[in-house]
Amino acid sequence: MNWVTRHMKMSDMPSLLSWYNNEELHYTANAKSFKPYTLDELVTYWEEKLNRPNADYYLILVDGKAAGRVSLKKKNEYVEYAILIGDESLYSKGLGTEITKYFVDKVFAKHRAPSMVLEVRKDNGRAIRCYEKSGFTITKEFRENGIPMYEMKVEKSKIVNKCT
Ligand SMILES: CC(C)(COP(=O)(O)OP(=O)(O)OC[C@H]1O[C@@H](n2cnc3c(N)ncnc32)[C@H](O)[C@@H]1OP(=O)(O)O)[C@@H](O)C(=O)NCCC(=O)NCCS
Repeated sequence: MNWVTRHMKMSDMPSLLSWYNNEELHYTANAKSFKPYTLDELVTYWEEKLNRPNADYYLILVDGKAAGRVSLKKKNEYVEYAILIGDESLYSKGLGTEITKYFVDKVFAKHRAPSMVLEVRKDNGRAIRCYEKSGFTITKEFRENGIPMYEMKVEKSKIVNKCT
């Protein structure tokens, strides 16, 4: 698939709005309550997000068209990863795995963090499979707003060991 990623810009907000306001997509990916946004509300929210010093946000483009987003949040001991592909016609074609592997390599090449961590709903089988194919394993089970969740982690040392 012909994809690239680049840093998110405020001019990307109209593309993000349709994903934020898709209730089914929201509950596939989130345990938080659904809340629709207006474009103005989303712009205000993202103006603050894009100024966060310890986070990087990327837009995924497929054939030049906005298709999803990735976030990396730098914590003390790890980098927190999240991905959302908004275009359903692209699901289960390997895109999420290709992008996740790309960011795992990028983070471990660039940051000192020994691991990457993410949270996923236990009922999101497609995402869990994507993360497992990218090297993540389940490390914790918990509930958020009553929804069963997994924490998944990939460790740099284990990736390096696999290659040697
Ligand atoms: C999760 C997401 C990033 C995965 O990207 P993707 O391109 O669809 O995933 P991939 O094609 O790389 O891998 C998906 C795998 O799950 C499998 N799969 C699909 N539905 C499944 C299900 N219900 N249960 C288990 N596995 C499933 C696919 O067959 C594929 O595995 P395979 O290659 O071994 O056949 C993307 O689907 C997405 O953004 N979905 C909506 C938002 C979301 O869930 N974000 C994650 C929040 S934690």
